[in-house]
Formats: sequence, structure tokens, C-alpha cells
Amino acid sequence: MKKDTELFRIIRKELNRQTSGLELIASENFVSDEVLKAMGSCLTNKYAEGYPGKRYYGGCQNVDESEQLAIDRAKRLFHAEWVNVQPHSGAQANMAVLMTVLKPGDTFMGLDLAHGGHLSHGSPVNSSGILYHPYGYQVEESTGTVNYDKMEELALQVHPKLIIAGASAYSRDWDFKRMREIADKVGAILMADIAHPAGLIARGLLNDPLPWCHIVTTTTHKTLRGPRGGMIMMGKDFPNPWGVKTPKGETKMVSAMLDSSVFPGVQGGPLEHVIAAKAVAFYEALTDEYMDYILQVKKNAAVMAQAFVDKGYHVISDGTDNHLMLIDLRKKFPAITGKQVENTLVKADITVNKNMVPFDSRSPFQTSGLRIGTPAITTRGLKEEHMGPIVEMIDDVISDIDNEEKIVMVRKKVNDMMKDFPLFAY
Ligand SMILES: Cc1ncc(COP(=O)(O)O)c(C=O)c1O
Repeated sequence: MKKDTELFRIIRKELNRQTSGLELIASENFVSDEVLKAMGSCLTNKYAEGYPGKRYYGGCQNVDESEQLAIDRAKRLFHAEWVNVQPHSGAQANMAVLMTVLKPGDTFMGLDLAHGGHLSHGSPVNSSGILYHPYGYQVEESTGTVNYDKMEELALQVHPKLIIAGASAYSRDWDFKRMREIADKVGAILMADIAHPAGLIARGLLNDPLPWCHIVTTTTHKTLRGPRGGMIMMGKDFPNPWGVKTPKGETKMVSAMLDSSVFPGVQGGPLEHVIAAKAVAFYEALTDEYMDYILQVKKNAAVMAQAFVDKGYHVISDGTDNHLMLIDLRKKFPAITGKQVENTLVKADITVNKNMVPFDSRSPFQTSGLRIGTPAITTRGLKEEHMGPIVEMIDDVISDIDNEEKIVMVRKKVNDMMKDFPLFAY
């Protein structure tokens, strides 16, 4: 067969972009060679509807082993009693949980999307907002942090069946214990979506949701540095509170209901090559090297946030506890939008994403903010001493946003810097 040179030329271009630039998108990372190898393996050929030991297809003996390994390692990593590693993405993990604990039309609460929440926590264009009835709790304008007393007031008003903790753009830790008190007061299920800070939580650098939340979802590709995918966990399985019975008339456990919601509820055949790559990522996340890495991610973010503050930027909540920061451009550059900055920085080989800030005066297509994270550059090997120069380069570009010569100069600096930090072993 003739080789597809057209497609592989595009992949080579992307590899060059990833290698020569500064990747500051908070939700991205670079996987190891072994994670890549597992994802590109023959496991992609296998159909395996069902779960290890209970499949609808023959020949699943090997993928049973690799999926079980992924489950066992995830349990060890998060101290979870039960795990489902099949969700194809974080949004699908959330969809499966909502399908398990809510009926269409039921009320739930999540962080307002304009305040850092995720589409799958109640956006009107996502199934969570189309099928169910979401209410958004918010952050305080003065502090940029969640006000749990106001969250409680809202819960007492709207009586949600489910409360979701977690966000896409929130740089502070979560008080899961307080949220459980609120959930218990109104009889709600408490779920945490730790898609972003999962790696920091796994290695004890942030509060652990598993002892407090009934159900925890995550992605595996952000701070966890695995393949693109999702996962659902429980610290402890429990009998479902909705009276659902098994065919034998016994009370169904929530784990069994969640399994059914993932498959066949929202998905078909599991991506066994990706599940194998998840197993590799969990193995790596349990190592001392990963511990050093994730500590460095957090240190880099703290130093970078401070460098932005020192340059006169408004960092929401004045800093960060995790791997990301949200910058409100309006203080230093009231006339410049997040979109303009994103587009201009891309020309300098610096990738960030425009982001709404709480109480934003602009639309999600323009925005007044930037979300910046350190997981990817830390994988490249960058340390605290590199954060100041990076902020300097970003500030240089924004301060003179129409100066094409400046952009070219900064791009050269970025490319020179990244030559010292090789990406993949091959
Ligand atoms: C908090 C949160 N949940 C869920 C998701 C969805 O993950 P995916 O893109 O894998 O569907 C994201 C993605 O950014 C996220 O930030």
C-alpha cells in the first residue's frame, strides 16, 4: 500500500511546534515514550465491550489483564475502593455520573461556567444543561475564591440532588469537607471533578476529595500526564440511595450503576489501547520521579504567578495553590482582550488560552483573561529560575502587541530556550 505522506507530514509539523514552543495551556502535558507506545499499540485492534472477566467478545484475555492493571494502579494511586477507567474523556465520565444520580429535569449545582466551571457542569449547550436543571454557585469578586456560606444558601434554596466541586480555571484548593456538610444538609450526592489537579491530589499536594465526596471524576491527560481520557472513582462504594434493585431484588451498589452508565449507557467499546496507556501513566505517577515533577509543577506555578503580580498584573485570588493561574488583563491592559493576547503569543511560539475571568465584561469569544499553567513546561524540565524570563517575554509581547519585530525577537528567544529541553527520547 502507498504510504500516507500527507498526514505524516502534518504530524511532523505538529511535533516541531510542540518541541520548539513554550506550552503554557494549563490542561495540556507531554506524555512519556511508554505512554505513547501503549497508545500506538495493537490493543487498538481489540473490541472488548463489557468489563474485565465479563465481555461480549472473545479473545479479551490480554486486554482483561491490562484493564485490570489500570484499575488496580488507579486504586493504589488515589486510595480508591472502586474505579472505572473506561470513560473516553472527562466530559463522558461526568455524563455517566449525572446519568446515574439524576433523572432528566433534576436540579444540581456546579461552579458557574463564567467563574471557572466546566461545560459538563451545566452549560446550556452540553447534555448536563440540556437534560438537567443546573444552578451555578460563584466566586467572590473581591477574593476570587468560592464562598461556601453562599454555596450553602443556594443549596438550601434550590435543593439540588447533586453538587459538583471542581473547575477548569480555579487556582485555589477546595474544601471538600465543608461541601460534604452542605450536601448532607440538603440530601445531595457530592461529586468532585478533579480533571485539572488530579496529579497534585494523587501525590498529597492538595486536599483529597475521596474521603468526602461520594463520587470523583477526572481526566487522565492533564497534571496526571497520561493519555487523553477520563476515569470515575469512589473512595468507598455504597448502596444506591434511590432504591434501584438488581434482577435478583437486591439493592444495587452505586459502582454497578456507574459501570452500566459508562457502558452501555454513554459509550460502546472501550479504547483498550488508551486504557493500557492509562495503566502506564498511573505506574509513572506512583514513582519518586513523578513526585519530584509534580512538586516542581506547583513551585513553578507559584513563582510564575508572583512574577506576574510583580509586573503589575491582576492574578485572580492573588496567586495559586495548584498548577495554574488566571490573569485578569483589565488592570494592566484595559483595552487588550484575551483573544488578542492568545493570537499574538502564538506568533511568538508561546501557547496560552484566552479565558473568561469572574465578572468579565467581555464575551467568551473575546475575554478579559488568560489561563496559564505549568504542567507541560515542567515536563520539559523548566524550573523556578525560568519562570521570571517567561513572564518577561509574555509581558514584552503584550506591552507592544502590534510590534511584529518584537514578536519575532521573542520567538527566537523561545526557540533558543527550548532547544535545551528535549521533548521525546526518539
Ligand atoms: C474540570 C473539567 N472537567 C472535565 C473536562 C473535560 O475533559 P475532556 O476534554 O476530556 O472531555 C475538563 C477539560 O478541560 C475539565 O477542565
